[in-house]
Amino acid sequence: MAIANPDPALPTSTRVAIIGAGPAGLLLGQLLTVAGIDNVIIEQRSPEYVLGRIRAGILESVTVDALTRAGVSARLRERGLVHHGIELSYGGARRRIDLHALTGRSVTVYGQTDVTRDLMQARMDAGMPTVYEAQDVSLHDFDGDRPAVRYRHGGADHTLLCDYIAGCDGFHGVSRASVPDSAKRIFERVYPFGWLGVLADTPPVSDELIYASHARGFALCSMRSMTRSRYYVQVPSDESAGEWSDARFWDELRSRLDPEAAERLVTGPSIEKSIAPLRSFVCEPMRFGRLFLAGDAAHIVPPTGAKGLNLAVSDVLHLADGLICRYHEGDTRELDAYSEKCLRRVWRAERFSWWMTSLLHRFPDADDFGHRIQQAELDYLLGSEAASRSLAENYTGLPYEGRAPVAA
Ligand code: APR
Ligand code: PHB
Repeated sequence: MAIANPDPALPTSTRVAIIGAGPAGLLLGQLLTVAGIDNVIIEQRSPEYVLGRIRAGILESVTVDALTRAGVSARLRERGLVHHGIELSYGGARRRIDLHALTGRSVTVYGQTDVTRDLMQARMDAGMPTVYEAQDVSLHDFDGDRPAVRYRHGGADHTLLCDYIAGCDGFHGVSRASVPDSAKRIFERVYPFGWLGVLADTPPVSDELIYASHARGFALCSMRSMTRSRYYVQVPSDESAGEWSDARFWDELRSRLDPEAAERLVTGPSIEKSIAPLRSFVCEPMRFGRLFLAGDAAHIVPPTGAKGLNLAVSDVLHLADGLICRYHEGDTRELDAYSEKCLRRVWRAERFSWWMTSLLHRFPDADDFGHRIQQAELDYLLGSEAASRSLAENYTGLPYEGRAPVAA
């Protein structure tokens, strides 16, 4: 399946220049295209490289609704797995949190790679320009009223004039880095561990996700489908994936699960194995003149709460609504409220992701008191409907406080 237009005649001007063709950039491009607002995506990697990234796909209902609004939910509704609960495993037993009974909401398991592929296909079908393998991307004059993006492609220098720049280029992108340090405030916490993840074509150990807290460390049993599993174990932050054979991984995972899950675990050869560091990160504000940061370019959450993709989506919804209001109604109030509205939801997700991480992981510098507090928190969480409902509200996604434009 072709996933990108052959190199388009490189445009020299557009309304919105989008930096990055990950989920944030592609979804923004699609929402603007549906609203008739011209846009160009500039991506440093190839489409194949972008699709090669293995990332979580636990979609909140806000995200499913956004993908539906973008017209890319057909495969999601056909293949997505709707989950009404999650399980917590600790002290040798598993206990289920009934997300739907507690909140009336569920989550959908659908890999981020599939979300990205669906968005790429829609963009290609719409004939919208995406410049892949753009090099030396730089942002200019976004503190003025005629910003520009410059890049090299095919051995030549190119300039794209635009009204606005959307920095959707992730944590290591050029957009946030283009803002002077004096204009931004950074909040960060780096955790003393990472997640060693394995993808395997084996049936998941359970129908729903299992989050395991164990003296040896955190473990997570997830999935991409009923025939493809995704597992993680907490490892020290200086660990390398090369030190972990498949056999060592499966033994360690099994040791951290309750006996019933350990017994049911189906192992097999890994088709992907990698370590991701864990950090919490927020850049304030998220707007700098005509430059808007969205998704990982503005914030990072530890994956424990499965919020990364969902936060990128809610940023993009706010930005798309603001741009649609500006172009369709001449009203810039939504754009002016962008950073404040995004950050309210970002910080709530940062808090939840930090809380889930603190609750379920083994901290190397924790003492016996700290371990008892974790156990007491888990006991309270699973013994109190109010505490379980709080987890369920956050895990399934807090309400999106947007303003649907009058004419999308
Ligand atoms: N110029 C152009 N493109 C760039 C540049 C640059 N200088 N730097 C990075 N990019 C591209 C990357 O190659 C990537 O395709 O920007 C894209 C950013 O995509 P993501 O990192 O996936 O970020 P985002 O779209 O915000 O999606 C967030 O992805 O990382 C996960 O957990 C995260 O699920 C969350 C989601
Ligand atoms: C995943 O399936 O990759 C996944 C699921 C839930 C998480 C994190 C990652 O909290």
